[in-house]
Formats: sequence, structure tokens, C-alpha cells
Amino acid sequence: MFPSVIVLLTLFSCTHGENPAIQLTLTNKGLQYGKHMGAGWIQEKLENVTFPDISGKVLGISYTLTGMSVQKCDFPEPTVEFTANVTGLKASISGLNIALSGWWRTRLGIIHDGGSLNMAVFNVDVTHEVELGKDPDGRLSVSTVDCAASVGDVNMDFSGGASWIFRSFVRYYKSHVKDEIQRNICPGVQAHMKELESHLQAMNVSLDVDEILSFNFSLTGEPVSDGSSVNMGFKGEFTNFHTHEDPPFDAQPFTMSKQPGYMLTIGLSEYTLNSASYGFYTDGLLQTLINDSMIPKFSPVRLNTTSMGEFIPQLPKLYPDLLMTLQVYATQAPVFSLQAGVGKLGVLAAVKTSAIAKNGTKIPLFNLNLGLKFSGKMWTSGGNLKGSMMMDNLTLSLASTEVGKFETVALENLMKQGMKMVVLPSLNAKLGKGIMLPRMKKAKLVNSVLKMEKGFVEISSDAQVYLKDGLFD
Ligand SMILES: *[C@@H]1O[C@H](CO)[C@@H](O)[C@H](O)[C@H]1NC(C)=O
Ligand SMILES: *[C@@H]1O[C@H](CO)[C@@H](O)[C@H](O)[C@H]1NC(C)=O
Ligand SMILES: *[C@@H]1O[C@H](CO)[C@@H](O)[C@H](O)[C@H]1NC(C)=O
Ligand SMILES: *[C@@H]1O[C@H](CO)[C@@H](O)[C@H](O)[C@H]1NC(C)=O
Ligand SMILES: *[C@@H]1O[C@H](CO)[C@@H](O)[C@H](O)[C@H]1NC(C)=O
Ligand SMILES: *[C@@H]1O[C@H](CO)[C@@H](O)[C@H](O)[C@H]1NC(C)=O
Ligand SMILES: *[C@@H]1O[C@H](CO)[C@@H](O)[C@H](O)[C@H]1NC(C)=O
Ligand SMILES: *[C@@H]1O[C@H](CO)[C@@H](O)[C@H](O)[C@H]1NC(C)=O
Repeated sequence: MFPSVIVLLTLFSCTHGENPAIQLTLTNKGLQYGKHMGAGWIQEKLENVTFPDISGKVLGISYTLTGMSVQKCDFPEPTVEFTANVTGLKASISGLNIALSGWWRTRLGIIHDGGSLNMAVFNVDVTHEVELGKDPDGRLSVSTVDCAASVGDVNMDFSGGASWIFRSFVRYYKSHVKDEIQRNICPGVQAHMKELESHLQAMNVSLDVDEILSFNFSLTGEPVSDGSSVNMGFKGEFTNFHTHEDPPFDAQPFTMSKQPGYMLTIGLSEYTLNSASYGFYTDGLLQTLINDSMIPKFSPVRLNTTSMGEFIPQLPKLYPDLLMTLQVYATQAPVFSLQAGVGKLGVLAAVKTSAIAKNGTKIPLFNLNLGLKFSGKMWTSGGNLKGSMMMDNLTLSLASTEVGKFETVALENLMKQGMKMVVLPSLNAKLGKGIMLPRMKKAKLVNSVLKMEKGFVEISSDAQVYLKDGLFD
């Protein structure tokens, strides 16, 4: 059942004393859900398993039991728990019964014989303990620390060949076959763990989000367990795909609350948001050109020198009735700061204004410094992450001018109006629709609740894991 638990742990498919900007806590509820999913999956898989051949020598007769496939499997609910002495998981299954059928062959000198076989293996107990760790590249690793198996009893029913002679010797074979099965269980379990480990090794710890940003979610430290949950910390940093430049600020440590009622809790620090902001900024992507056709039709104020004469009286005298453009660009990476119940965003920008001459050349007019402060809320609803934003402050000042000095108060009020009546409503319409919470091929978050805290957002959630088409394809 470990594979399904591991899917929950690697839900972001996600080294030197860095603070994690993203944390994931898997609770006991999540572990039990993973176990339940995994147990069903194993039961299904077991029906198709072919057992390895068993061979040996009893009373001078070499025997081989071959082609044994599971006919029926009575798979009791396993138990699984977190271990705290080593960060890991311990799973036990007790009282597993399996019915198998296959073929037997014996050889004594040149005498060969063979036939079919039904076998029942009773009361198999297996205990398996794995340790969760981090490999040098920041991937999750699993390794077996302990495995113990015992088989209660074995019954065999031979038919065909000289099985009537053979039958009387069953009691001699029985303990040998039982020991062989017992001896093979843990190596079999470990082979599966090796396979799981190799899939984990193949996972990427960074992801190209688009042509601009890549996202690094390597583990920042070993997973930590307190016996009732496992917590993992991820780097959670966006970097610019071209510059690969780390942001000039560090992730701050944060502590998530315990939410045992949910399967998992994901914490996202403001560092992650700010690294994305920085990534966009360093690529010069935070800029836009505004022209008159972008101003809503209903607005009485147009982006031309005539209309702007109301705010800058000398402008229409210098340049009568010309269209204007505004080039707005961030002068610093916008900064997100998260507080309890509210998120803040500060933007510092510059605005270059130009008039467009009749022959098409741009005539520089004046430059403005623009400061914007927003606050916003985020919540989850119907499986979507939603939000709303409002403007707290807008300040405008004249940085330089080709048209002489003028008062910016009236222009500042105009921009405030524009933000409140045009920009924010359309932004909020988009935020209100929301974006879907992360949905991977194998897992989906359900019943999520979001809480904003100082420095981070915390999403507590249940998950649905789909194992139908195998685990890693
Ligand atoms: C078992 O094997 C058969 C034939 O190979 C296949 O059709 C079936 O889907 C398999 N069942 C499971 C549970 O893998
Ligand atoms: C860890 O502790 C559990 C019980 O809490 C015990 O069963 C297990 O053997 C221990 N494992 C190691 C490696 O010490
Ligand atoms: C890992 O990333 C590489 C390159 O971006 C990609 O080709 C590969 O398919 C990825 N592997 C997985 C398992 O997603
Ligand atoms: C991700 O971050 C880790 C830790 O800082 C670093 O070692 C690794 O090189 C980074 N990976 C990528 C692809 O940037
Ligand atoms: C304004 O900008 C938009 C988008 O860049 C462009 O399609 C449009 O032609 C421009 N309008 C004028 C009048 O320059
Ligand atoms: C400028 O705006 C005014 C409305 O304020 C409008 O009457 C005039 O036609 C506009 N001029 C240009 C060149 O678009
Ligand atoms: C375009 O018009 C402006 C102002 O009317 C003038 O200064 C500039 O020289 C003209 N440019 C060209 C290429 O005609
Ligand atoms: C807006 O910012 C300016 C400059 O930082 C400050 O003087 C003013 O009090 C702020 N207004 C509000 C409503 O916060």
C-alpha cells in the first residue's frame, strides 16, 4: 500500500539549510486513505500475480513447483502507521490466505514425473517498515528498514502423474515449501520497493511552468515525523527560465497548524509568490502600453491632448488634439505580503506618456511615478481557488516633464476612478471565477479550505487518488 501513500506525498509532481517555501503535511487520515486505496489496488493486482517457482530436494527427489498463479486471495485490511524513531511508515498485514494453482515436476535420477497442483497458503503475516528520506538532488526516497514474514500453514493437493505415490510424501514437502515461501516474501516486497524507488528517482524536482518561469520543488530537508503525521518542506521557488536568477530575498520559516481532520495540509509562503513576481520582473514582462482604444467607450475622458487639457492646461496648447499613449512598467518587482486573513500587494511603477504626432512619431510629454497598494482575500469554493482585490492607495507624482510642471492631484483622482471603475471590476470578475486547485493525473484535492496567515497561505484538504491505470504512467 506504500505506493498510494507515496502518491499523496509527491502531490506536487515535487539543500543547504534553506527554509522551505512550501510545506506538505500528510496526516494519519491521509495515511489511512492511502492505505485503503493501496490495499484495494494490491488485492486487484494479486489476482494476476504469477508466483516464482519453488524448487528443492526432499528424500533425494528434486521437485519444482511452477506456473503457480493466484486463484483467490483473501486480503485482510492491513494496518499502517507513521513511525517516529525513523521518519517513515510501518505496515502490517496479518492472516492473509491465498489459493494458488500450478504444476509440479519431480525428478529422481532419470525418472521424471509431473502433474497439476492446488495449493493453499494460510495465515501469512508480513510487517514492513520503510524510512522516508531525501536524496542528494532533493527527491523523496524510500528504503526498507525492516521486513518480517511468517507463513502459518501450507496445504497442497497434487494430481496427475504418479501423484498417488507422491501424496503420501506431502507432509515432507510441506515444511520445505512453507519455508521457501516464507523466505521469499521479504525479498519480493523489497523488489517492489526498489521499483518504487526507481520511479521516485526518475521524478523531476523542477518543472517548466511556461516559457517564462520554472518551478523548483526539491526537498529542502529530510521528511520529519511526529508519529501522527509526516511533514515535508519544498524549495517552492519560481525562477526565470532564461536568467535562472535566484531572487534577492530569502524564504522565511513558517509553522502550519495541525489539521488532523484533513488528509493533508499544504502551506505556501509569500516567498513563492514573490519569486514568481521577481521572475516576471527580471524579464521585463511587467509592462504594458495603454492607448485610447483600450479606454472604455463610456468614459468621457479620452486619452488625447484635448481631453487631458482638463488636468494639464498647457498640453492642448502645445499639442492640439493628438492621441496619447501611456507606457506603464514596474520599477521594482511587485511585493506580496501575507497577513492573517488578508494579502497585500505593493506595486511601484513608472508611466511614460507620449503624444502621437500626425505623421506617427511619438512625442515624449512627461513621466510619472506610480505607487499602488492593494489588499486581497483568497478562499476555496467548489474546488476552485478564488479571490478578490481592492485598492488601498494610489499615489502619483511627476518624475520629469517636457511640457512644464503641473499639479498631479486631479490626474491622481482620475486614475483612482479608472482603477475602481474599470481595472478592478474586470480583475475581480476573473478572480471570482477562480482557478482550479492543482489537479494531477493521479490525485485531486477535494473539500479544501484555505486560511491566510502571517507569511503564508494554508490549504487543508482531502484528496482523491486514482490508481486505476497503474501508478506512474
Ligand atoms: C489480469 O490479466 C488479464 C489478462 O492479462 C487482464 O485482462 C486483466 O485486466 C488483469 N487484471 C488486473 C486486475 O490487472
Ligand atoms: C521504531 O519504533 C517502532 C515502535 O514505535 C518499532 O516497532 C520499530 O521496530 C522501531 N524501528 C527501529 C528501526 O528502531
Ligand atoms: C523531466 O523533465 C524532462 C525535461 O524537462 C522531461 O523530458 C521528462 O519527461 C520529465 N520527466 C518526468 C517524469 O516528468
Ligand atoms: C533546485 O533547488 C536546489 C536547491 O537549491 C538546487 O540544488 C537545484 O539545482 C535546483 N534545480 C534546478 C533545476 O534549478
Ligand atoms: C491600441 O493598442 C491595441 C493593442 O495593442 C492595438 O490593437 C490598437 O490598434 C491600438 N490602437 C491605436 C489607436 O493605436
Ligand atoms: C479627444 O477627446 C475628445 C473628447 O474629450 C474628442 O471630442 C476628440 O475627438 C478626441 N480627439 C481625438 C484626436 O481622438
Ligand atoms: C513628425 O512630426 C513631428 C511633429 O509634428 C516633427 O517634429 C517630426 O520631425 C516629424 N517627423 C517626420 C519623420 O516627419
Ligand atoms: C497613501 O500613500 C501616501 C504616501 O505613502 C500616504 O501619505 C497616504 O496617507 C496614503 N493614503 C491612504 C488612504 O492610505
